[in-house]
Amino acid sequence: MCGIVGYIGYRKAVDILLEGLTSLEYRGYDSSGIAVNVDGKVQLYKAAGKLQNLKNIVEKNYADISKSTIGIGHIRWATHGAPTVENAHPHSCNCGKVAVVHNGIIENFKELKEKLEKNGCTFRSQTDTETIAHLIATKFGEVHDLTEAVRLATKEIEGAYAICVMHQDLKDTIVATRRNAPLVVGLGEGENYVASDVPALIQYTKKAIYLDENQIATLTPNSVDIIDIDKNPVEKKIETLPWEPVALSKMGYKHFMLKEIHEQPDVVRNVLSGKLRAIDENIILKEVTLDKETLKNLNRIQIVACGTSLHAAMVGKYIIEDFCGIAVDVEPSSEYIYRKTITDKNTLVIGVSQSGETADTITAVRQAKSKGSHILIVTNRPDSTMAREADSLIPVNAGIEVSVAATKSYMAQLISFYLLAIYMAEVKGINNLNELKHELIVLPQKIEKILAHKEDIQKCARKFANSKDFIFIARGINFPTALEGALKLKEISYINATGYTAGELKHGPIAMLDESMPVLSILMKGKVYDKILSNSEEAKARNARMIALTDSDDTKLNELFECIIRIPEICEILSPALAVVPLQLLAYYIAEFLGKDVDQPRNLAKSVTVE
Ligand code: M6R
Repeated sequence: MCGIVGYIGYRKAVDILLEGLTSLEYRGYDSSGIAVNVDGKVQLYKAAGKLQNLKNIVEKNYADISKSTIGIGHIRWATHGAPTVENAHPHSCNCGKVAVVHNGIIENFKELKEKLEKNGCTFRSQTDTETIAHLIATKFGEVHDLTEAVRLATKEIEGAYAICVMHQDLKDTIVATRRNAPLVVGLGEGENYVASDVPALIQYTKKAIYLDENQIATLTPNSVDIIDIDKNPVEKKIETLPWEPVALSKMGYKHFMLKEIHEQPDVVRNVLSGKLRAIDENIILKEVTLDKETLKNLNRIQIVACGTSLHAAMVGKYIIEDFCGIAVDVEPSSEYIYRKTITDKNTLVIGVSQSGETADTITAVRQAKSKGSHILIVTNRPDSTMAREADSLIPVNAGIEVSVAATKSYMAQLISFYLLAIYMAEVKGINNLNELKHELIVLPQKIEKILAHKEDIQKCARKFANSKDFIFIARGINFPTALEGALKLKEISYINATGYTAGELKHGPIAMLDESMPVLSILMKGKVYDKILSNSEEAKARNARMIALTDSDDTKLNELFECIIRIPEICEILSPALAVVPLQLLAYYIAEFLGKDVDQPRNLAKSVTVE
């Protein structure tokens, strides 16, 4: 979603702002802007659409703009008001001296706006953010201190925000604050940075301070001071940022998505490392701090997540119930938070999120926490807001994922669920999972085999790229794989794709089948293989074009399926972790063939920080 970058120091601020915004582009946005201070005047530059449009404007005025050594920048994902130049950030006040960038939503902006308008403020945009600019300017007029003006303003603001502010008369100050939206201060020598996410900083510094809720940071080139909302000074906790700049390079791949798909064998090895040491040794999962007795006696688990993370959670449910006999409910966070959920201190609540910043999931785990549940968070961002809510934290260690479509983070979540389920089973004294442990260890090689033959999937993608609709069918543990395959295809190619349990096909969806509707059957050897085969026959009898994804070498399949994607044989219970890879590739190649913006699909954001 939106992204913030701020710089103060001795270098050309505009270069750092634009580079920072470029590294946040992956989050999804629809307009952008910067504010700099040139010869004592705040100047705003904004553009609708891609960041390149802003870069083009900057280029024309570069000689002037590059004089500034202070600046704030923003990419906006529209919430209040269309993605136009007027609504792009930074926003300013009547006199134009204050510039503000903001991530989040100000819930009481209408009331604030009304009050401000009565006091003579003229609004130029439809955004909630502009109220912040006017409010801070009003407060500054009273107290003549930017930090204090921001502090007083935040006392009146309701909602979620990360804010960066500069004032024309203060060429050496940026003030930043946050509530329910992330903000991190990067520390340099004679220069300091602020950003809403780490990628904007890692090429400049590895030293950073994560701001806590309601803390206010005042940055100058040589200092960072932090206070809380009651003006008490806060002790700075300097942390080392987790990634290397190389994580933001495509490393020769055409898209980040393709690179990230290829990283999956190593992701699996990373997740297993130190936790699954040998087949005949128990899983080590120190991250789960719930004492073993409580864990043993748990009779209920709830998992909350959204999108792809929800699909990982569905596999998690299947295996925890299968291995441990504990009832697991999985629910989209956005539903969980608006009903009376039966949650208490005897319920383990697991929040799953790649970004750790998904608003619905944060709200869901907070609600469960307030009812006394132990909160286990499975996330790729141990530095995120959600991670900070955790009683137990499993960082999935997939490395930064730039492409909006989640691939390697899904793989890391899946493997983490396998480890968790085996760990819980072993705590309960169930020790019959050695074959699965062996399969986990050899999984990376099997994924590598699929990647080595990706051209076959590319050919299949070409054949079906012009289809308008797609159906994915599966049963049992691969139903979430069907949902995930369909989601990947929808997200990046905009083709209407739906996942169904194969048995449900004849209860309605079969009415849609004809020669224009491809059906992809996930046919992994095991309990439900024959059933899915019959369901595929039923689809074929309605003239649907059939694709199989299978680990079977049965030659009979050749008659039924127009295209067969064969993958290495794998035990059924682990098959979701292998079967998803060709589906990611299929979606990728179809989108690439159609010329879509694979890494930044329209309307989507990498972290969905609004409910
Ligand atoms: O960061 P999260 O895992 O909480 O995000 C949840 C969904 O927004 C996310 O999985 C989304 O569906 C992705 N674009 C999937 O590719």
